Amino acid sequence: MPPQIHHAITSLVAGTILIATMPVSATANTRFERGSEVYSQQCAACHQAQGQGIPGSFPPQKGHTAELYNATDGIGGRQYLGHVLQYGLTGSIEVEGTTYNGNMPAWGGALTDQQIADVLNYVLTAFGNEQRLAGEFQPYTAEEIKAIASQNLSGKDVYQLRQAVLGQSTAPSRDDSTAQSAPELSLKKAIRDPLYVAVQNSGIVRALPSKQGWPGVAGAHYDALSPDGSRLMVSGFKTGNVYVLDTANGDVMASVAIGEVAQGVKISPDGRYGLAVAPTQGDVAVIDMNTLELVKKIPVGKVPHNLIYSADGEFAYVTLQGEGALAVVNMQTLEKQHQIPTPGLETPHNVDISANGQRLWLRDFTGNVGVMDLASETMLKTFKVGSGHGGIDVVPGGQYVATGAISASAVTLIDPESLEIVKNVDVGVGPHGVRASRDGRFIYASVTADNQIAVIDSQSLKVVRRQPVDGKFPFWIAVPGNP
Ligand code: HEC
Repeated sequence: MPPQIHHAITSLVAGTILIATMPVSATANTRFERGSEVYSQQCAACHQAQGQGIPGSFPPQKGHTAELYNATDGIGGRQYLGHVLQYGLTGSIEVEGTTYNGNMPAWGGALTDQQIADVLNYVLTAFGNEQRLAGEFQPYTAEEIKAIASQNLSGKDVYQLRQAVLGQSTAPSRDDSTAQSAPELSLKKAIRDPLYVAVQNSGIVRALPSKQGWPGVAGAHYDALSPDGSRLMVSGFKTGNVYVLDTANGDVMASVAIGEVAQGVKISPDGRYGLAVAPTQGDVAVIDMNTLELVKKIPVGKVPHNLIYSADGEFAYVTLQGEGALAVVNMQTLEKQHQIPTPGLETPHNVDISANGQRLWLRDFTGNVGVMDLASETMLKTFKVGSGHGGIDVVPGGQYVATGAISASAVTLIDPESLEIVKNVDVGVGPHGVRASRDGRFIYASVTADNQIAVIDSQSLKVVRRQPVDGKFPFWIAVPGNP
């Protein structure tokens, strides 16, 4: 057992925790509201609005989280929950008779200490949980979360902590040694064009193969390249700013406030506009890539998440995660033109377009892919893939469509002609961003819980390299020639 985990466990048993005593007052209401906001924006898509979860994919918060809190007299359980939020959780667990073998993303570095405290306070008092708590509930404080945040644990370490707190034995963990022992392709062979990884919880962009790390992008979340590769647009999960970096040296050329934390960003094929999606406002923010100023906000619908342009650049297709639809934005008028429903896919999240421009490939938030024929605006098929959200890429050359799954461990490869799943390639825990090289030879996946880029050879369909990003939570990847 690594010394940090041992330390974390002994400190649990010794009960050395900080519980600030806070008077119950009017602040309780605002605290509840703040936590409720974080929950609905960051947790509800997986654990569901009423905390009921999705059996087999996302464990419930209702009832269950109170039970966890009560473990070891509300000392170990309390600490454990702080750890889960900070570092995530990876491993096979059983909740109310159902097995979950997933991955909960780490929130440390993405949410502030205060937000983590708020959301825990919310979950433990909402959904009827408060009545189930064994003693009187003392709210978590930012200071308490901060103390947890200094330990540098992984989701697998937190899993060991869970088993210790609940007095359960550790199930044998997934065996990824076989993949790791395979001979690795050199970094230069595996990554020929520069690749830019948004390393969210470290607030940097990591350029590969050069390994340069570019700071100044707090919460680096989604990123996208300009068509000539000279500019990188990055959304900041922590700040509500969208950054434009010079890829020659990583300098931050502009930091544009769009009014809230942006999700997907994409630069138009003519290089003129950068679009950034504002989910709560329901807008797409338009940044002029010459002046680097915000020029317009286009209302598009509920909870927009990401977008892709038509090949001719005339339209942008924006996923509407909040209403099971796509918004079509006219790039000449910069207005929403119409909306296309995505039946069978309730929470369309990420999107790519086929090389001939006839089909959209959509990835939802919970574990499904859908393919839409644009001429008839009909869904041709939906597939079940790995659980949780992820990126999706139509691999150049047309052999595969690849998608990640943040709550699972594989990249799913789909044949775009037969519309069948070809293979699930085990890449490590929590793959989210997926982009192929411009020639389609390699498929890159950002493996959020393992802090690596997995490189899949599109000929052998095997992982040929695992490249550490020297930072936490690599979320998204931008690759030249494959926006
Ligand atoms: C992408 C989906 C996803 C999101 C978003 C997510 N979770 Fe989770 N969460 C999971 C999965 C999957 C697990 C179970 C992990 C496993 O099987 O090891 C989990 C586990 C947990 C657990 C521990 C349950 C246990 O039995 O130990 C807690 C507590 C929790 N999540 C709270 C939250 C909160 C609060 C948020 C929002 C800040 C959140 N989660 C956001 C997927 C998610």
